[in-house]
Amino acid sequence: MKIVLASDHGGVDLLREVANQLDELGIAYDNIGCDCKDSVDYPDYGIPAAEKVAEGTYDRGILICGTGIGMSIAANKVKGIRAALVHDVYTARVTREHNDSNVLVMGARVIGVDLAKEIVKTWLAGEFEGGRHINRIEKLSAYEAK
Ligand code: RB5
Repeated sequence: MKIVLASDHGGVDLLREVANQLDELGIAYDNIGCDCKDSVDYPDYGIPAAEKVAEGTYDRGILICGTGIGMSIAANKVKGIRAALVHDVYTARVTREHNDSNVLVMGARVIGVDLAKEIVKTWLAGEFEGGRHINRIEKLSAYEAK
């Protein structure tokens, strides 16, 4: 599995922690920025990251901003992206099982490092259940294709 990471200035510290975690887990990733503390605009990083997942360059993405909301709105504008804004471990698991989410979004001003790492670990390990959820995802794809 290869992952693309991106954040704005609000998420940069937490994203570095996540990158360290992926190093420890031996999971390949690229961090496409901003990797900075200067004020930047989250769509400039969230949309390119989501596009790289949608086109298949990366299997999944992890995006972080201050609240997670901006990045999740940005990522979900990209066709084929199912970005989940997650701040608890239960949702991290269920969004993989039910939504087959391909982008995880977190808010660095909302949760701490330890919880974020637990969420990342759970989300990466989660498996899509298929079954009744396939039809629901297909309806999203059909809407995108309009
Ligand atoms: C940046 O201050 C902040 O607005 C951004 O990180 C994010 O929370 C937006 O949704």
